[in-house]
Amino acid sequence: MARVIRIVRWDELSPAQKIDVENLKISDQQIEFAGPIHRAVEACTSDLTGDIRGAAIFNGDTIVGFLVLKRRNAAPSWVSTGAAVISALRIDLRFQGLGIGTAALRRLPEWLLAQWADTKSIMLSVDEANEAGRRSYAKAGWVDLGTRDKGRIGWVRYMKRDL
Ligand SMILES: CC(C)(COP(=O)(O)OP(=O)(O)OC[C@H]1O[C@@H](n2cnc3c(N)ncnc32)[C@H](O)[C@@H]1OP(=O)(O)O)[C@@H](O)C(=O)NCCC(=O)NCCS
Repeated sequence: MARVIRIVRWDELSPAQKIDVENLKISDQQIEFAGPIHRAVEACTSDLTGDIRGAAIFNGDTIVGFLVLKRRNAAPSWVSTGAAVISALRIDLRFQGLGIGTAALRRLPEWLLAQWADTKSIMLSVDEANEAGRRSYAKAGWVDLGTRDKGRIGWVRYMKRDL
């Protein structure tokens, strides 16, 4: 069961905690949805703009997930002005289905506003076939924008939560 869910910035993690993030596991099919963890970590470590935030998801003292937020020029071109975008969200396989992803997403707006106070909304794209992803976002308050585009592996949909 989900205990106290916390979000902690990548740069504030200890070296051991950063290794825990790098060791987060999802299935091969889920990697198609969220990308490999090394790419998510690389985005955080190579950022020179300050417009990328890695965010570790803790359940109690255990790192159970990770996501990356981007804004401005670091975000894809379809992201609205003033919005941030979620990418690479994952909950480790051992901890999926316990409500942790939804709980973390519910906490994310407040956490993000403490980082980037002028953020107007949080957007994302999600593969249409990713039922768990779409359900988690919807439960945490994201609204489907009603459009879809051909993505790398199928249709992708866009979702947004105003802050
Ligand atoms: C998407 C993800 C972050 C959700 O985190 P989670 O902690 O497992 O999700 P939760 O336990 O909060 O469950 C959220 C909802 O999804 C549903 N769900 C979970 N797996 C599902 C599946 N395979 N099919 C349909 N619904 C599913 C749950 O039942 C729950 O809905 P409910 O409460 O109405 O029953 C996690 O599954 C994950 O890491 N997936 C792989 C990577 C990924 O797809 N990332 C998103 C990229 S956009």
